[in-house]
Amino acid sequence: MPTPRGPRRDPGRVLVIIPTYNERENLERIVARVRAAAPAADVLVVDDASPDGTGELADRLAAGDSHVHVLHRSGKQGLGAAYIAGFRWGLERDYDVLVEMDADGSHQPEELPALLDALADADLVIGARWIPGGKVVNWPRHREALSRGANVYARLMLGTPLHDATGGYRAFRASTLRKIGLDGVDSRGYCFQIDLALRALQEGLRVREVPITFVEREHGASKMSGDIVAEAMWKVTRWGVRARLGRRPGRS
Ligand code: GDD
Ligand code: MN
Repeated sequence: MPTPRGPRRDPGRVLVIIPTYNERENLERIVARVRAAAPAADVLVVDDASPDGTGELADRLAAGDSHVHVLHRSGKQGLGAAYIAGFRWGLERDYDVLVEMDADGSHQPEELPALLDALADADLVIGARWIPGGKVVNWPRHREALSRGANVYARLMLGTPLHDATGGYRAFRASTLRKIGLDGVDSRGYCFQIDLALRALQEGLRVREVPITFVEREHGASKMSGDIVAEAMWKVTRWGVRARLGRRPGRS
């Protein structure tokens, strides 16, 4: 039976973490959309010394809005490393909810309230493309095939119930991240998403997928690369084999 939808619950203090590498054309717009869609939330831009000046732009936005913060890192170290730094920053400052969101508009801030609502009876909410109601707009065929394939492989290999384990639009309770423990996470690229979802499931936490519409970027370029795909394939295979050998997957 569907639960009746009452008034939105207060999710507590929310931090929206936006990792950036060369997102100068996208950053101002995404921050404005987040601020409009969730005015009580804070934003943390985690920039890896983008050569295009994204970090300086982030500083300017932060100077004009006390809800906007910036974490500068010394160089491009991968999406997973950027998120871990952002999570630590947020946990140290006692945020209750930590959100992952791409800078390029693929994750629509207007859908954030739905993710936060779903967190009322979950420990991790994943915005999912490959479930009923989920959509992808303007993705080239090869990207859709890659994402669907990666998800089928991860499901079979890891035996998870998830349909979009690679999805990068997420809301974590702070308690979830504390329970997972970030120290042992060494996934640097996009397989970081699979890694964290798997760890949450292994901890017996409630992981819920809610449908989102993923909109491909209009400006700038994806940072997806052959190395990132290779890391994901290798790691998922290793975790799956370890699970079959009776060892706990997801740990190196
Ligand atoms: N700080 C930092 N460092 N940010 C990075 C790095 C990095 O090394 N690599 C990527 N990013 C940022 C980008 O600037 C962007 O804001 C976000 O991470 C996502 O990067 P994209 O390059 O736009 O990813 P995508 O569109 O190809 O991939 C999407 O799908 C993946 C697979 O489902 C994303 O939603 C990923 O999160 C998702 O795993
Ligand atoms: Mn993108």
